Amino acid sequence: MKIDIGNALADVASPGVSRAALDRLDDRVEACHDRIERGRRDDEFGYAALNLPETTDPEAITEAVDPVAGAEYVLVVGIGGSALGAATLAEALGDSRVLTLDNVDPREVSEVLSLLPLDETVLNVVSRSGTTAETLANFLVARAAFEEADVDWTDRTVVTTGDSGPLRDLADDHDLPALRVPDGVPGRFSALSSVGLVPLAVRGHDIAPILDGARDAADLSGSLYETPGYAYGAVAYALDARGAAVNAMLPYAESLDSFGEWFAQLWAESLGKDGLGQLPARALGATDQHSQLQRYRAGPANTLVTFVRPRERTSLPIPETDVDDLAYLGGTGMDDLIDAEFEATEASLAAANRPSVRVELDRVDGRGIGELLYTMEVACVLAGELYGVETFTQPAVEWGKNATRGLIGESNEESAAVAEKTRLVV
Ligand code: PA5
Repeated sequence: MKIDIGNALADVASPGVSRAALDRLDDRVEACHDRIERGRRDDEFGYAALNLPETTDPEAITEAVDPVAGAEYVLVVGIGGSALGAATLAEALGDSRVLTLDNVDPREVSEVLSLLPLDETVLNVVSRSGTTAETLANFLVARAAFEEADVDWTDRTVVTTGDSGPLRDLADDHDLPALRVPDGVPGRFSALSSVGLVPLAVRGHDIAPILDGARDAADLSGSLYETPGYAYGAVAYALDARGAAVNAMLPYAESLDSFGEWFAQLWAESLGKDGLGQLPARALGATDQHSQLQRYRAGPANTLVTFVRPRERTSLPIPETDVDDLAYLGGTGMDDLIDAEFEATEASLAAANRPSVRVELDRVDGRGIGELLYTMEVACVLAGELYGVETFTQPAVEWGKNATRGLIGESNEESAAVAEKTRLVV
């Protein structure tokens, strides 16, 4: 994987970062690297996630799901870090039969459950804590749908959870295949563990290349000029400090659309603390050239655009045409067109002095997505060190979870605060 930060330099972009400032920042990167390496060595909470390429055993996962392997559909019931990793990996592998039930929108849940052939579907219920209201509610509704359809859910359910809690008890009570969420790995950093990999293994994918790809990026050096993840994390941090409060993730591949969602969670939930952190925006190339690009090029100069592009794509020729005005398209390929769109957009931002970073992977496949996710995790951990925030906690998210539980169950401090909301109704 290569990361090109040239278009984020101060002589190209505003806000931009000068080479001299980057060189100075590199001294801090070295100190942060030492901290990260210590955390990895001691398997400290959060830092342990960067050991997953070594500690996740793909064969053990494949073996554990053997009783349900080869299912036509997998329905992942989880939310946040317990859903987005699997969704991102499945999309990158081109598997549209891994579906996710994360939101608790009654219409969506009913529709998904009524459309799926439940006798050909495996439920993968995922919750690190085993207590998340959305996940448990979706599971209870899905289980009822299986029962109504006369399909034995106990034959078709795999649980991924911590060592204890309601989901672990459920798995024990019904003798369900149950995989452990590894210790020390926060939800949004768990894609490369059982959390992200089980659904793919159930669908019969070889999950080893995903971890191989991550391993390709796991050898970190203490300089941003040598480690792509550090280059990205350091530049995003430096640009934020100079006014780029928004980070627009713009992959040029439909198969990386969910990656944008995964990145948004990683960046916002890890770094949005103490009044700091970039706001991640989600976009997709080339679609959003006809939408958000206007804002990125000509709106407030507060946005870093992060391009992600695969160097190799499937080719799809565009047929020759007898329409004169369209002749320029004929004989080229759809792959040439999307690459031209990417190059044009990147140049268009540079021409308007707007900063961007180019992230290039060889191709969108298991190895490529493993490397991309791992590199962005490294970037995020480094940025967290530079900001000086607690990257691996999510107190604001926990507040909302508690308030929800309080509102629908036994009231608590957070739910009492909901009742005190100031109102000005028009
Ligand atoms: O990153 C996180 O910690 C969160 O997004 C969690 O993944 C999310 O809240 C779901 O939590 P759990 O896996 O405990 O159900």
